[in-house]
Amino acid sequence: MRVEVRGLSKSFGAVRAVDDLSFTVEPGSITGFLGPNGAGKTTTLRMALGLEQPDAGTATFDGVAYADLLSPVRTVGAVLETAFHPARSGRNHLRVYCRAAGLPVSRADEVLAQVGLADAGRRRAGGYSLGMRQRLALATALLGDPAVLVLDEPANGLDPEGIQWLRGFLRHLAHTEGRTVLVSSHLLAEMEQTADRVVIVGAGRLVREGSIAELRSGTQGSGAVLVRSPEAGRLAEVLRVAGLSVGPAEDGRVTVTGTTPATVGAHAFRAGVELHELRAETSGLEELYFRLTAGQEQFAASQGAAR
Ligand SMILES: Nc1ncnc2c1ncn2[C@@H]1O[C@H](COP(=O)(O)OP(=O)(O)O)[C@@H](O)[C@H]1O
Ligand SMILES: [Mg+2]
Repeated sequence: MRVEVRGLSKSFGAVRAVDDLSFTVEPGSITGFLGPNGAGKTTTLRMALGLEQPDAGTATFDGVAYADLLSPVRTVGAVLETAFHPARSGRNHLRVYCRAAGLPVSRADEVLAQVGLADAGRRRAGGYSLGMRQRLALATALLGDPAVLVLDEPANGLDPEGIQWLRGFLRHLAHTEGRTVLVSSHLLAEMEQTADRVVIVGAGRLVREGSIAELRSGTQGSGAVLVRSPEAGRLAEVLRVAGLSVGPAEDGRVTVTGTTPATVGAHAFRAGVELHELRAETSGLEELYFRLTAGQEQFAASQGAAR
């Protein structure tokens, strides 16, 4: 099932939380919804799920708005916040949900097993670790066996092991089971390791949309390449002659901006310069995201001016 967001906008007073945002989410892959805190991710997801009224725009599931879905719980599962009745067991919580949603209560045990909570299901949810709560939230989202999963910052507060588990689980849901998975995060590294595609937002607007590989290569020219060589001085000269932007050679190291390791390596090879290290200092994607998080307003303004 395909999710399509078209021209969504939402203001809270003077704050334009979401500003004419459009993107698509395809089945069978994990789409990362990436942006710094306050970028408008949660507001967008809440609008898509009919929990917030947009000022303009639409979000549809195979062309149908959430409010018009014949069976919402069987279509979209969402984890937006993790609030459980602390005295209730995880299993009980799920069974209450099943009854409310008109699903067979046997689904509770099925989803508990799916998220690895089969043993903990009968304990009070109030005693669960944060990781177990996240799993319970995920189990709740899976109750209706939905084609689409929407998860708002599910990795928040998880330990490395939990994050590893979540990653594998989301891959299984998307790649093996063919579901549509939309997962938000404010951490680039997290998204780079989890998502197949990313939709990057800043100050409520779309900044980039594409596969991780596309975004890395498409913006690579803005990164810096670090080279170490026993002939750093000669290498710097060779690269300068080739028209590259080269910093001073220091301690056997040279930094070249606006190019790729492949280009620098090719020049060094042709000139017969020995290299001891050759790497992109930061990926273009990191640089882009760093600018976005460092100065959101200025970034949004410069993007706006460039349009
Ligand atoms: N209910 C609300 N009332 C007022 N402002 C809000 C409300 N919800 C979100 N905002 C504001 O909208 C902007 C986007 O918030 P949010 O969607 O939560 O971003 P994110 O999830 O990317 O961190 C922020 O400036 C936030 O303070
Ligand atoms: Mg949020």
